[in-house]
Amino acid sequence: MGRFYITTPIYYVNDVPHIGHAYTTAAADVAARYHRQLADDVFFLTGTDEHGTKVEQAAAARGLGPKAHVDEVVGKFKEVAAKVGASNDFFIRTTDPEHEKFVQDFVQRCYDAGDIYKSSYSGLYCPACEAYYTDENLMDGLCPDHGTVPVHMEEENYFFRLSAFQDRLAGHYRSHPQFVRPRHRYNEALSFIEQGLDDISISRATLKWGIGVPWDENQVIYVWVDALINYLSALHYAPGENLVARFWPASYHLMAQDILKFHGIIWPALLMSARFELPEHLFIHGYLKLGGEKMSKTRGNVMDPFPLIEQYGADPFRFYCLREVSFGQDGVVSEESFKARYNTELANELGNLLSRSVSMIGKYRGGMVPGTGGREPAESPLAREAETKVQAARDQLDEMDLSGALESIWVLVRRLNRYVEEQAPWKLAKEAEAGGPEGQTAKAALDATLWDLAEGLRLLSVLLHPFVPGTARVMRERLGLAAAPAASEGTGTGTGGPSWEDARWGLLPPGLSVVAGPPLFPRIED
Ligand code: MSP
Repeated sequence: MGRFYITTPIYYVNDVPHIGHAYTTAAADVAARYHRQLADDVFFLTGTDEHGTKVEQAAAARGLGPKAHVDEVVGKFKEVAAKVGASNDFFIRTTDPEHEKFVQDFVQRCYDAGDIYKSSYSGLYCPACEAYYTDENLMDGLCPDHGTVPVHMEEENYFFRLSAFQDRLAGHYRSHPQFVRPRHRYNEALSFIEQGLDDISISRATLKWGIGVPWDENQVIYVWVDALINYLSALHYAPGENLVARFWPASYHLMAQDILKFHGIIWPALLMSARFELPEHLFIHGYLKLGGEKMSKTRGNVMDPFPLIEQYGADPFRFYCLREVSFGQDGVVSEESFKARYNTELANELGNLLSRSVSMIGKYRGGMVPGTGGREPAESPLAREAETKVQAARDQLDEMDLSGALESIWVLVRRLNRYVEEQAPWKLAKEAEAGGPEGQTAKAALDATLWDLAEGLRLLSVLLHPFVPGTARVMRERLGLAAAPAASEGTGTGTGGPSWEDARWGLLPPGLSVVAGPPLFPRIED
């Protein structure tokens, strides 16, 4: 049994939640559920980033104080987590007093280590990124991410000696070639470090909405420093025992490429300064794009996941995002491709496979899963391929190749559908009726086929659990297997879901009573 601590970025509350945020949270949930299946000790964290200029401005625009504003909008992000079926163990808000206190202690440690000094800053700043830019970083004088004109800023600030960490950071990258994944993101971050790092301003004098610098009441801590520390602060006060000892360093910080520099450079340097261990991995997935562009509120091209989830459920949404877009690369999403994938893969391939199999067991064997027709389970023509795909999915999940794992699982779904056609149980049933030795052979073949199908579906319910937990549970119910423990579905640290130990061909006991039911995925008709 291992341990697994996974985080999503903490989302800005001034943004509207969109499919991009739901994607990261759903992906993190897949990994968390898989590791619970392995009986790992799992902690899954998500939350909201609530300080900073943007939030202060958004609140002011509504005539509200910042706290009243964030208290209201945080609900939308909690809703995203709940609606995508996230089994997060904690939801951190950077306005939690425990977080604020921890951030002050953390920054004090960096100050005491001599890594923070006061100086004046003058330069360009993008309030939407909450980040400084040099002329070279801008695109035609505009923020490369938001396409907006940066503002000129001049302030006395506290600076963090990022430059002093350059060699140690590069050294860490070299000795930990898996620190940032996938590889091209690792290369990107390392080459950025090698180009030379400037010290960064880590406090603001003009802003009020932030955590106070412990040794200077006229300044607040830069929102990015405050935000990054969440991954560690949460473990100090989330419910649970010894969370810091159990879960730090984090196994994976999950995010898209927009915030790689903050996580791949500033965060490890801050941790080194404050003398904490570095996270094991950052995994950088791609952008979901709508019409070829990254979605963002500033661009006004966001796809709202709520209507899709409300209409079709969390599982089709999770399935779609992880299947449509290769995990680690950018990909285009749309409502049309959602519907197409839903109809072909969920309704036709998976849904039909289950309903056909259950109905044939009903029709030919009175609703009871037969024995294997006198054959060893391992002799089934499906056994080898099933074992190979289980191993492939496991290797891919271990490598965070979530879409690759889903593809391996889907090969099995399609194989089972072909198996139905190849075996033609309806023909075997007819032949069995004839009686005699040939009838006996057909009867045994029908038993074996129906058992194979039920076993294949059972196996799929184990493999699919992390991706589509509700669907996997219904599959198990229909097969007459006991429902998965409740802990797997809600928040909490229960082991949850069918164990990965069950992902082996040949475990299905004969004699289970299958249960017919409505289609898993009713087709979407236009
Ligand atoms: N508050 C910071 C993160 C601080 S973490 C210490 C922030 N927030 S954010 O709301 O802008 O979230 C950015 C993250 O949301 C991305 O890194 C990614 O995880 C997710 N996504 C936002 N838009 C996305 C897409 N269009 N596609 C995929 N993921 C997207 O940055």
